[in-house]
Amino acid sequence: MLAQTQSALEVAPPIPTATVPLMSTADVSHHATYVTKNATPTLNSLVAGVEQALARTSHWDEVQQATVRHLCEAVERLHGEAMRRLIRMLKDEAACHEPLRAALSDEVVYAVMRYQGLVKASLGERVQAALDSVQGLMQSHGGGIELVAIRPPDTVEVRLLGACHGCPASSQTLTDGVERAIREHCPEITQVVQVSRSAMQPEAKESVEIGQAVNKQGVHFVSPFALAETSGWRDLATLEELPDRAMISRQLDDVSLLLYRRGGMLSCVRNACAHMGMPLDGAHLDATRGVLTCQYHGFQYVLETGECLTVPEVQLQVYAVRVLGQRIQVRPS
Ligand code: FES
Repeated sequence: MLAQTQSALEVAPPIPTATVPLMSTADVSHHATYVTKNATPTLNSLVAGVEQALARTSHWDEVQQATVRHLCEAVERLHGEAMRRLIRMLKDEAACHEPLRAALSDEVVYAVMRYQGLVKASLGERVQAALDSVQGLMQSHGGGIELVAIRPPDTVEVRLLGACHGCPASSQTLTDGVERAIREHCPEITQVVQVSRSAMQPEAKESVEIGQAVNKQGVHFVSPFALAETSGWRDLATLEELPDRAMISRQLDDVSLLLYRRGGMLSCVRNACAHMGMPLDGAHLDATRGVLTCQYHGFQYVLETGECLTVPEVQLQVYAVRVLGQRIQVRPS
């Protein structure tokens, strides 16, 4: 490593000191005072110190700046290798595991270890990276996702936004896009929970408007992650068979489904109450609100999302639905 450092320095051309404005005596004395007076500097002040030092080289010519970069990289490699060896030795000693973990709670230790690639990103950072990776696609369809909470060791709560919130295919969006991304970034997370919301929130109106805009292109209410899915769609009914603010039941193989239409909004849910699995085609429909009340024990559901208003922890199984021409198609999950 020392040889590496030396060779890195050797290949860099020498700095013509006569023409380079280095730190003034006052600067050096300021730094010396700072170091001695601030026994425990913060991460921010230390990073600021590095940035200030680099800023002083910004007007140097290319050769001089390359020399500085070589020097920084060589020193970083030297420090990184020393830390790597130190950690390897400490990890071999069981008694050192706890102090090592405690050391990582120090912001400076954690930041430098992360920078050196010696610790992986925190769960929070990885969850956010996963959501960021799908955010662009969801936003391009008028939707979005936000992190509500991380509940270690295995659960993440999220909220769908915009067109995704209230979209009948939101469950598919969650499963296909968000869950997959979170699983890739955070294998320890096994449950992604969509936080329930009220059926009457303003975003529900937004989803109708966006849905209608999409209708003009001939495809209705498809999860962004299902747009690429060209196979698996099954004809279930025609628009003629489903008047506005009405609900009909249809059989798809051995599964009974309910289709509901409100204006430009179509949804499809499984015809089985989340309470005891009883059929819902005889349930009372409040067509104005799109709320279904099970005739057996009174559980209430929002048909556009499958959300259960009685017990928010459960919901009806929702299916991706689209309209091609007059045909209403469903994609079995
Ligand atoms: S079966 Fe529907 S509320 Fe009990």
